[in-house]
Amino acid sequence: MTALTPVLPDPKANYLRTGIHRVHGWLNPSTAVYLSGIETAQRADGITGDVAEIGIHHGKSFLCLALALPADQRAVAIDVFGDQSANVDQSGYGDRDTFEQNLATYGVGDNVDILQTSSLELEQNGFLTPGRRFRIFSIDGGHTTEITENDLRIAEQTVTERGMVVLDDILNRHWLGVITGLFRYLEHGGSLVPAVLVPNKLVLATSVEQAKQYRAMFAEHFAATREKADVPLAGHQVDVYADRPWLVRGENGESGPILEHEPMSTIPTARLSELEEQLRSSRAELDRTKRQLKTVREELRAATVPMYRKAARRMPWLARPVRPVFRRVRDVWRRSR
Ligand SMILES: C[S@@+](CC[C@H](N)C(=O)[O-])C[C@H]1O[C@@H](n2cnc3c(N)ncnc32)[C@H](O)[C@@H]1O
Repeated sequence: MTALTPVLPDPKANYLRTGIHRVHGWLNPSTAVYLSGIETAQRADGITGDVAEIGIHHGKSFLCLALALPADQRAVAIDVFGDQSANVDQSGYGDRDTFEQNLATYGVGDNVDILQTSSLELEQNGFLTPGRRFRIFSIDGGHTTEITENDLRIAEQTVTERGMVVLDDILNRHWLGVITGLFRYLEHGGSLVPAVLVPNKLVLATSVEQAKQYRAMFAEHFAATREKADVPLAGHQVDVYADRPWLVRGENGESGPILEHEPMSTIPTARLSELEEQLRSSRAELDRTKRQLKTVREELRAATVPMYRKAARRMPWLARPVRPVFRRVRDVWRRSR
């Protein structure tokens, strides 16, 4: 069943409706709605601060956070980009040029800071020194256990008290380093508290009290898509939100679905003719194969019937018991022609 998004600032709503499918990356459309909606809801609730993401690729999820940010707030993008030797598990492939083009195309302002580094080097490069400043910290960089634990620690130490951390691929069966990293972080005394699960991402808050606040905030803005409440996870309770088709509502009163691919009308005529030609040639191939099959069947019949007759003449005592079977096979074969 289609769900309605909260009313979103127009740049975010337009990006979701007609832009996001053009940015390569890994982000469930429902999760894009949840990220965009909660970033907007935080501001309405007076939660201030910057936003950050580790693991940018081409900026698909980063744009959900950075679009329509107030001019006095920063959006910090962290990725190894050109230094892919530091991308130890080959999760994605950050491309700075494509990312910067996407920022320009979708109208993200001058308030983006790009840090080209491995997240494993952030601490020694002084990233923690300015202290707590992020109201959203999205983690989607390296997916190993070590990197996940490191990134959760970085987020824990830089997120504001009312801020939230979003951990990607928490239940992705191909990237089990993430869930292992989360449990290791918690075992080693990590203070972030799981609060909400959206498709493929876990939202964590800075305390049990703040986790309650985030669960309430999600329930207020996404009541219709809460699938299950109070699911136990690592000694806490999380609320689980569904993957749905959406009607995205903008401030200008327009609403529309999230485009997941280019509409057919934008396929060039030359490409359409090419596709028609491929279809014609596949049909001709299918006809040829059917004709060959018919010939093989006839040859098989021509070969087996005389063999059976010859055997029946020479060894009638052997042929008699199989005669009914032969007749049955022959009838079935005739009917199937
Ligand atoms: C799964 S992709 C990110 C997907 C992106 N968030 C999106 O919305 O499509 C992972 C990214 O993390 C980067 N990366 C991998 N290891 C990293 C590390 N140790 N530090 C920073 N970035 C890293 C890769 O270059 C890649 O761009």
